[in-house]
Amino acid sequence: MQLNKNYQNLSDSYLFSTIAKKVTEYKERFPEKEIIRLGIGDVTLPLPAPVVEALKKAADETGTAAGFHGYGPEQGYGFLKEAIQGYYAARNTHLELNEIFVSDGAKSDVANILDLFSTENTVLIPDPVYPVYLDTNVMHGRKIVYLQANAQNNFCPMPPKDVVADIIYLCSPNNPTGSTYTRGQLAEWVAYANQNKAVILYDAAYEAFVTDDCPRSIFEIEGAKTCAIEFCSLSKTAGFTGTRCGYTIVPLALTAEGKSLNKMWLRRQTTKFNGVPYIVQRGAEAVFSQAGLKACIDNIAYYRSNAAVIAAALDEAGVWYSGGKNSPYIWLQCPAGMKSWDFFDYLLEEAGVVGTPGSGFGACGEGYFRLTGFGDAENTKKAAAKLKAAIQKLK
Ligand code: MLT
Repeated sequence: MQLNKNYQNLSDSYLFSTIAKKVTEYKERFPEKEIIRLGIGDVTLPLPAPVVEALKKAADETGTAAGFHGYGPEQGYGFLKEAIQGYYAARNTHLELNEIFVSDGAKSDVANILDLFSTENTVLIPDPVYPVYLDTNVMHGRKIVYLQANAQNNFCPMPPKDVVADIIYLCSPNNPTGSTYTRGQLAEWVAYANQNKAVILYDAAYEAFVTDDCPRSIFEIEGAKTCAIEFCSLSKTAGFTGTRCGYTIVPLALTAEGKSLNKMWLRRQTTKFNGVPYIVQRGAEAVFSQAGLKACIDNIAYYRSNAAVIAAALDEAGVWYSGGKNSPYIWLQCPAGMKSWDFFDYLLEEAGVVGTPGSGFGACGEGYFRLTGFGDAENTKKAAAKLKAAIQKLK
């Protein structure tokens, strides 16, 4: 038996597991110390009431002979796909129902989609980046070219002139930096991908946070249907981090080597995936109802105001940051020239606040730090005051 040797090229543990381990060790050493977690982007508000109602109703239904559901369609029930279709239609983007694939979240689909592509492909990955894009390609042994995102390009890197890539990852609004591509910038990416016969793997998990005219879907850009796949999730939109439901859009017009990627993805999913539970899909359907969308918008406003509280503390402490406007994430420059993990340790010890070291997202993240607006409002206020005091102590 031989192992997949590519695993030896991965870092020892997944970023958020490393952080969780460090925090557990710290708690064991100082059990009396209060810790406020603004590290992993996990939501804290309960599920919206219309979603809970729908979940309960569906659970009751499955306890009856007439309402019992066994295996469902691997690509999702029609009622949820229609609700998603309506959500896009409200923004003037038309999707065919068979372009929509319901999943258990963006993370798994973003990883699984790689089944469709040769390991010979060159992959363009922004740095810093959500670690899943990188790790899953390392697992397959693909050649990776990094695209530097930095303060000079507002953490929105544009297509390189000297690289021909096959697979391109874009995430907007961005995790971890909170930066968001404009329509013009995304149009340049779409032109680059079409010209190079490349595919853009577009992560739109944070689309619901966009407040300005930036696109919420890559399919708002002309030409995207021949070069992009979009991944979206209800985790951040509707608090489904524990409930698990997302969707992936694979356009019918997307082809390579004369083959339909939509057909290939359907083939992959019907073989390897048994679909999302009926009950969860009924809950997800309720997200897109009028009452559901209103509740989600209210929850997002709550997280956005947390981000504003953190931003105000950083303004007062004189620290540079970006994000927090179209995004739940604040991306800050570590004070006093500290390195990311040093600032992580300092903030934990000094303030009991957990964030995410920028270097965990890539080499270009060194010297930066990510805080999330997903916390509880009172705790976030406390954390912001402690953050400010800890930074001021360094001056
Ligand atoms: C993050 O903190 O970056 C996200 O919560 C991770 C994820 O969505 O999987």
